[in-house]
Amino acid sequence: MYPLNRNRRLRSSEAIRSLVRETIITPDDFLVPLFVVEGKGIKEEISSMPGYYRLSLDLLDKEAKTLWSMGLKAVLLFVKVADELKDNTGKEALNKDGLMQRAIQTVKNAVPEMLVMTDVALDPYSSYGHDGIVSEGKILNDDTNAILAEMSLSHASAGADFVAPSDMMDGRVFEIRTLLEDEGYHDTGIMSYSAKYASAFYGPFRDALDSAPGFGDKKTYQMDPANRNEAIKETLMDIEEGADIVMVKPGLCYLDIVREVKDAIDVPLAVYQVSGEYAMLKAAAEKGWLDHNSVMLEQITAIKRAGANIIASYFAKDVVKLIS
Ligand code: PBG
Repeated sequence: MYPLNRNRRLRSSEAIRSLVRETIITPDDFLVPLFVVEGKGIKEEISSMPGYYRLSLDLLDKEAKTLWSMGLKAVLLFVKVADELKDNTGKEALNKDGLMQRAIQTVKNAVPEMLVMTDVALDPYSSYGHDGIVSEGKILNDDTNAILAEMSLSHASAGADFVAPSDMMDGRVFEIRTLLEDEGYHDTGIMSYSAKYASAFYGPFRDALDSAPGFGDKKTYQMDPANRNEAIKETLMDIEEGADIVMVKPGLCYLDIVREVKDAIDVPLAVYQVSGEYAMLKAAAEKGWLDHNSVMLEQITAIKRAGANIIASYFAKDVVKLIS
């Protein structure tokens, strides 16, 4: 083959490299996670996520406009709920004047064209910090599903375009789809966290929302990091139950799963580059051990190359600033 084949010919200048480049990052790739808090004029940095903030509604309005002006057209909303509103029933999650419901309206008023997705899970509302209703140390599956469906309906009626169940109960996509259909929300989509692993990379996120589990861990509902077969099974089940978009989470350590899932499905695949992935790079860059922007772009490129159609990432703004 050599010297007829010299692979370096296609690498010899930036012009030829960009001509043959397979994976191009654009603002269209991103879903921007946003953390919302009560109050006014609040922009609190999350200590384990340098450069990332919890925003009050007035600043959420501004942020939505900024994102839109940068070409970032989709947000994923999370709320930090006051301790006194947390219980074991998720009742605050259904409050039509709750923080999430007002956050949805705030973004929609600020930028009506913005795609608004909402987190659906009980952990920010749970006095136990779990994603479902707790009884005798167990997380109840079917009782939780009923509330997740009501919660989704509440988000849809507040104006959410997509609901994103991140809880990992069995059958919740079906319950949510059924209730949305029954209530006439035919156009409200579901992005399901389908292959969501019980990962230690969620630590900084739980700092952001003060939502760490009060007892035990999430291993009875989130997936074992050692497993691949069930990632395919979970994803196919969610599609069958009515998910429009499915997700693999976390990102980097799970790119083998991303590729396998992508090859097995015919709906868009989202990948969540989670809080711990963000924190790791920020910390190494702060120490001067890694070049922040190069590593960031390399990671995002790897996630897309592995098969992600949508990337939920705390780096979205940084990346868009870098590539535009
Ligand atoms: C809650 C939820 C979590 C994340 C998204 N939704 C945390 C968890 O499951 O404990 C993690 C996101 C991140 O780490 O960036 N259901």
